Amino acid sequence: MSQYHIQSLEAYFKVYRESVNRPEEFWSGIAQDHFLWHKKWDRVLAWDFEKPEVRWFEGAKLNITENCIDRHLSTKADETAILFVPNDPNGEAEKISYRNLHERVCRFANVLKNHGIKKGDRVIIYLPMIPELAVSVLACARIGAIHSVVFAGFSATALSTRINDCDAKMVITSDGSYRGSKTIDLKGIVDQALDDCPAVQSVLVAQRIHSDIHMQEGRDHWLAPELAAASSSCEPEIMDAEDPLFILYTSGSTGKPKGMLHSTAGYMVYTAYTFKNCFQYEEGDIYWCTADIGWITGHSYIVYGPLANGATTLMYEGVPSHPDCSRFWQIVEEHKVNQFYTAPTAIRALAKESLDFVNKHDLSSLKVLGSVGEPINEEAWHWYNDHIGKKNTPIIDSWWQTETGGILISPIPYVTPTKPTFATLPMPGIQPALMDENGQEIHGNQVQGRLCIKYPWPSIARTIWGDHLRYKDTYFSAFAGKYFTGDGALRDETGYYRITGRVDDVIIVSGHNLGTAPIEDAINAHPQVAESAIVGYPHDIKGNALYGYVTLKSPVENQENLCREINQLISQQIGPIAKLDKIQITQGLPKTRSGKIMRRILRKIASNETDNLGDISTLLDPEVVKSIMDEALV
Ligand code: WTA
Repeated sequence: MSQYHIQSLEAYFKVYRESVNRPEEFWSGIAQDHFLWHKKWDRVLAWDFEKPEVRWFEGAKLNITENCIDRHLSTKADETAILFVPNDPNGEAEKISYRNLHERVCRFANVLKNHGIKKGDRVIIYLPMIPELAVSVLACARIGAIHSVVFAGFSATALSTRINDCDAKMVITSDGSYRGSKTIDLKGIVDQALDDCPAVQSVLVAQRIHSDIHMQEGRDHWLAPELAAASSSCEPEIMDAEDPLFILYTSGSTGKPKGMLHSTAGYMVYTAYTFKNCFQYEEGDIYWCTADIGWITGHSYIVYGPLANGATTLMYEGVPSHPDCSRFWQIVEEHKVNQFYTAPTAIRALAKESLDFVNKHDLSSLKVLGSVGEPINEEAWHWYNDHIGKKNTPIIDSWWQTETGGILISPIPYVTPTKPTFATLPMPGIQPALMDENGQEIHGNQVQGRLCIKYPWPSIARTIWGDHLRYKDTYFSAFAGKYFTGDGALRDETGYYRITGRVDDVIIVSGHNLGTAPIEDAINAHPQVAESAIVGYPHDIKGNALYGYVTLKSPVENQENLCREINQLISQQIGPIAKLDKIQITQGLPKTRSGKIMRRILRKIASNETDNLGDISTLLDPEVVKSIMDEALV
């Protein structure tokens, strides 16, 4: 029992050793004592990173929503499961008790069934951060349908690509969404996307902004009347441990987004365990993660991890700057938030504003601060520590990925001494390795390399939907027998890890992973564009911003117009988050003799680090570098 909750550094080291020496005993101990199973597993783990395949708790039967909801009903039916805080600062927060959540999930699950959704069917959820989002996720899990949440900031093209990739039968959306002082026409975006999605049979529409929208006869259905008419009880579908739970798309460095598939039991066990330890959640605490449920952070640490622990999880609909930049702190004060989990980009944006926004609020309820999504720079870390944590609230800099399902490297607050910009130590069961360029593991401390994980953990994604080969190529081919994260890291003299950033062509902008290839594809769709290359450069708030180098088929008169059109194309095909901050129309791109664009050089030029461009002798035409540096920016 004691292994579930780590409360001292000594205990951490002991548990960690056990988890590495006897992983199967360790994880079966955690799984056995803290979850509800209809049948125990026959085998704890089967794995082969060459194939690759990983199966945890094979033979076990369960339903994750029983673990997240039903089993709490005997002890905490009236306690708040979800605390919903609306966008409108004058709007009232809504407390959804475990009892009420149970009823809402059951009703929603019955509506899904009434529309013919069965175990294994894919359902796309395209909703703002309103209760229906969490409820619809859980309703899918209740009946064994595979949910795929698409962040409601993605464009119609991005949405239709995802709908078609997983052959979804149904889309759940709302009439629109509030975002600060703006409203967004979500249903209009869905309508546009569905022009290209013949397999979608029905669309369920939640009413949020009461806008006048088009409802297509026979396809579109208002949610509220259907929920009201549905039964409030729904027996959970009993799932196998390895049955798929959800697909979540993430950007790759090439081509279309990757539909990461997570399965049921391992994901549940790992997210619940890491939630408890990384946030030291105690009965009665109010926990708030500011992510959107459209990202993995929201799946694991707004919905599944907290609810599996019977926690109160706060869900905020709006943005940090509405009505002003004190909103986060006002919510912390009003709801006496104990654990607060956000992203470096939000911290940097708020740190730019007056400290009055912070200081007028009582933040004394805070016990744990978290950061996730990209490396947190030292300045932001200190601002967070000094002004939000008042120097006595541990910051957990938690490193993980959509693919990992849960937090892999993180301090445990009040247990692991923190160090600015370091994610510190691996969670129990996680065996990191740093690799050199020749594929050898680098042992010892004070070393730097590419970050791999040597041994499976329960919540590792099992495949890429419909493309197992790509899964193998992307994660298991660079270093034989190991999971490659795509990140670089260093290990300091005490064995602490610091994540240094992506080593592939994924750029993290405001915490969003963007692959360079899909953006370049969007730009190249412009009739005047011959070729393009995207790189990231440092940006005060976003962490990285995007810099595009574009060559043209023939000169154009109005370059400003062209740049505007390029950004419009990107917005349409991917979403506004992928728009370029700077565009340079250039005569040529630096290429190797084999025709590969030397992004390393473009990155240096974009970052104004032109003193040391490194070796450019292998370029087909070294002169091109000078002309790129001489050209003016548009
Ligand atoms: C980066 C988000 C440094 C990293 C949960 C990773 C981080 C990618 C950190 C995954 C951190 C995430 N420090 N870098 N604490 N957390 N990253 O899939 O590059 O949206 O590979 O998952 O974000 O982003 P994703």
